[in-house]
Amino acid sequence: MSKWFLIVLFCGLVPVLNAQAKLPDGDGKALVERICTECHGADQIVELKLSEAEWRAEVDKMIARGAEGTDEEFNTIVKYLAKNFGKPAASIHPRFKTVQPAAVLMSH
Ligand code: HEC
Repeated sequence: MSKWFLIVLFCGLVPVLNAQAKLPDGDGKALVERICTECHGADQIVELKLSEAEWRAEVDKMIARGAEGTDEEFNTIVKYLAKNFGKPAASIHPRFKTVQPAAVLMSH
């Protein structure tokens, strides 16, 4: 086995291992791995922080794009995502949602 083969193999494995490491254990992890990484990586998912309603909308969007699973499976996925990549509903007052430029804040 040549050294180059090992290097190429290793470089190929790193992104795969990284992608899986980001999904925390829990009900729904296996479903996300099976259903949600068919078209793109899990990194698209884990970088978001959404409420349960927003994850529901996101998953509905993916169903429209062609994600395949039962209602029950998608329900589990929404709960899993909201728990691990979520934010409590309405925890942020709408007024504070938009980040104001520092200059605007300082002029007050
Ligand atoms: C049939 C293909 C397909 C499947 C299956 C799929 N997606 Fe997607 N997803 C896409 C496409 C196409 C995009 C937009 C293009 C891109 O960025 O790759 C996308 C983008 C996203 C984004 C980025 C934000 C956005 O709306 O563009 C998130 C988050 C996401 N998907 C979550 C999920 C989740 C959660 C699941 C599992 C329930 C899932 N996806 C399954 C096709 C799919």
